[in-house]
Amino acid sequence: MHRLFVAIRPPEDIRDLLLDAMDESPDFRWQSDEQLHLTLKFIGEVDRPVADDIADSLSRVRAPSFDLRITGVGRFDRAGGGALWAAVAPKEPVAALAAKIDRACLAAGVELERRAFHPHITLARWSRKHSGDAAEYVKRARRLVSPPFTVDTFTLFESRLSRHGAHYEPLVGYPLAASRART
Ligand code: 2AM
Repeated sequence: MHRLFVAIRPPEDIRDLLLDAMDESPDFRWQSDEQLHLTLKFIGEVDRPVADDIADSLSRVRAPSFDLRITGVGRFDRAGGGALWAAVAPKEPVAALAAKIDRACLAAGVELERRAFHPHITLARWSRKHSGDAAEYVKRARRLVSPPFTVDTFTLFESRLSRHGAHYEPLVGYPLAASRART
């Protein structure tokens, strides 16, 4: 089985800014450079034929490229832990792309996403007892902003989980159409 998701990989200068925003706190499991991404659609475990159908269906997604920037940090509190993340703006073009990808995955037999889409780039995860430190971090890093960066590709990733953490392997990159607004 293959554990798949579709994501945007931020460019190197943006990843550098995010890596610089990570501090020394040992209470968080900080993401490595290769783990930084913005998830557009979590697919989950599928077998090889379905993975091939998904890859094929994604190649038919037509959407314009767009600009995003980092606009602060936030946190998710989940049962047994949580995550620190970087926020992005504007949300509309990234949500529109995620919706198209969701429909493309549906055409390949994957269930539609039922949860609201909150675009974010996970920076760290923590286990339950450290949520107080997470609040402190969010306060400290709230002014984290970046210049705009262009999103001109989305990528199908495979997630491989091991004792050393998650390894995210890019499988296929899909280009977005050049935006007429910027030319
Ligand atoms: P997260 O960063 O907010 O945890 C690979 O696991 C990516 O898919 C992660 O970015 C993760 O988001 C996202 N994802 C979304 N739904 C998921 C789920 N049900 N299980 C695991 N990862 C999920």
